[in-house]
Amino acid sequence: MTNIVQSIYYNQAPDTLQRGIASMLHQVWPDVCPMPGPTIPKAHDKELNARSFYSYINEKLVSYAGVVHKTIRHEGQTYNIAGLSCVATDPKYQGQGLGLRTVAAATQWIEKQKDIDFGIFTCKPSLASFYHHAGAWTVVPDVVLIGSRDEGALSSESLDVVVLMRLFSEKAKAYESILHHTTINLDFPDGQFL
Ligand SMILES: CC(C)(COP(=O)(O)OP(=O)(O)OC[C@H]1O[C@@H](n2cnc3c(N)ncnc32)[C@H](O)[C@@H]1OP(=O)(O)O)[C@@H](O)C(=O)NCCC(=O)NCCS
Repeated sequence: MTNIVQSIYYNQAPDTLQRGIASMLHQVWPDVCPMPGPTIPKAHDKELNARSFYSYINEKLVSYAGVVHKTIRHEGQTYNIAGLSCVATDPKYQGQGLGLRTVAAATQWIEKQKDIDFGIFTCKPSLASFYHHAGAWTVVPDVVLIGSRDEGALSSESLDVVVLMRLFSEKAKAYESILHHTTINLDFPDGQFL
């Protein structure tokens, strides 16, 4: 099985690749991700400047992970954060180690970026060990992640998810104590979350 994880900024990805990503995400989440038609549904908002990680088997895109970026304020400090988004393997190809490889490549890329203070995102509790194995992502039970302060915004407390986090920069490590036992606000538009 030839399977190399490739990478590109999503906003620079050619239509063929964006279409392949959309098709695979539709296979995995048919209710949430529309099937690509004449227009290609976007996997990531442009302003999140996502980096895409993906691999093919027999010319079919079978595994995907996006790394999205955001600048947030927390307790008087500004942080550049990264989060994994749209992590998925084509259902026909699950359980073969593809997801592990894609998430590992995405995490290694984050580690090499000089400007990312910390990584944070959520997952179903049953996938915590998958992310730990793939990228040393650790569950932080004392951190609540919220989409925004708006009423009805998404929150790790109201969804059945755990928060995964890794501190990368010296700054994030220096402020470790205020990045724990706390609520971190992603300051996203309504409905967006990580
Ligand atoms: C989660 C997902 C991306 C994993 O991809 P994959 O290519 O099947 O994963 P791998 O084959 O690399 O699995 C690696 C390990 O994770 C475990 N794992 C994979 N999917 C799992 C799941 N849904 N629940 C619990 N464990 C899972 C596997 O058992 C395997 O562990 P092992 O090596 O000890 O056997 C894939 O199952 C998927 O697309 N799920 C639906 C979408 C989803 O939930 N995405 C995550 C959003 S946070």
